[in-house]
Amino acid sequence: MMPTPMLTIENLTLKRRGVAVLDDVSITLARGRSLALIGESGAGKSTLAFAIMGLLRPPEVALQGRLLVGDADVALLSERQLRPLRGSRMGLIFQDATAALNPCFTVLQHVSEPLRRHRRMSASQCQQRAIELLDSVGIADPERRLKAFPHELSGGMQQRVMIAIALACEPELLLADEPTSALDVTIQAQIMTLILERVRALNASVIFVLHDLALASQAADDVAVMYAGQIVETGPAAEVLNAPQHPYTQGLRASAIELGAARLKPIAGVVPSLSSMPGGCRFAPRCVRATEQCATRPALTPRGTRAIACWHA
Ligand SMILES: Nc1ncnc2c1ncn2[C@@H]1O[C@H](COP(=O)(O)OP(=O)(O)OP(=O)(O)O)[C@@H](O)[C@H]1O
Ligand SMILES: [Mg+2]
Repeated sequence: MMPTPMLTIENLTLKRRGVAVLDDVSITLARGRSLALIGESGAGKSTLAFAIMGLLRPPEVALQGRLLVGDADVALLSERQLRPLRGSRMGLIFQDATAALNPCFTVLQHVSEPLRRHRRMSASQCQQRAIELLDSVGIADPERRLKAFPHELSGGMQQRVMIAIALACEPELLLADEPTSALDVTIQAQIMTLILERVRALNASVIFVLHDLALASQAADDVAVMYAGQIVETGPAAEVLNAPQHPYTQGLRASAIELGAARLKPIAGVVPSLSSMPGGCRFAPRCVRATEQCATRPALTPRGTRAIACWHA
């Protein structure tokens, strides 16, 4: 029998005030695998990550389809049933540690919170475990750092603390939403390496939200390319990003290469507003290969190792 995937998303549609911010999204993530979500600003990457954490639920949004973490349906669980999932079986790392950490709490208070809540650890157990965790995320002299407040730490150090919090209860699924984009380029690689190392040590599954294609192909097994709330191409990261087949992924890659040459050449046109989306392929208005057929929506169709939603791939 096939083991239950870590995450199973089937035909998930998420609407805010009647507008589909996620439209018919399907993703499967096996245990121990990593997936990178990429796509332009507004594609719905963070929305998907928050929905997986159970942070976007009715009545705030309307949900259709299935969203299973293990075999628990996040859309059907009560807030009370969700609590042990969040921060324990699932961990979340945000882009901006400064905003995520509370300026009034010390490092020890931050790291202890999930340990007390989910593991019912005593104060001395929390302190011991916090020292181990800080050490594991590369914070030197962890005992002394326990008493520090967030503003006393550098940006890279704050990000390490947030990683320690997310990993405190050894989650099975980690969501990392642009975990390094607020950091200096020199520190970005260190932090990515750290996350990957810790995730492997826990044999956890991970979803990265990234806008750096090169980073995505290095860091993730698989990639899902999102455009305007839909997945347009998905498959093994190195394959999809080195030889993209969907015109949108090809455009992203071309602009990334141009960016590498320090010349910005973004894909022509802009993402249509969600309330005035074309009925067929959402990328058609910007696509050089668009034909009449594209007025009908192309389904995400398996082709070899990947799946593509395009009539002309
Ligand atoms: N709180 C909100 N209320 C209303 N609309 C929202 C809200 N948050 C996001 N949206 C809309 O949902 C869509 C998807 O946003 P989301 O933040 O998921 O995109 P993203 O892919 O993470 O973009 P970025 O790369 O900029 O982080 C956008 O059109 C955005 O304007
Ligand atoms: Mg985002």
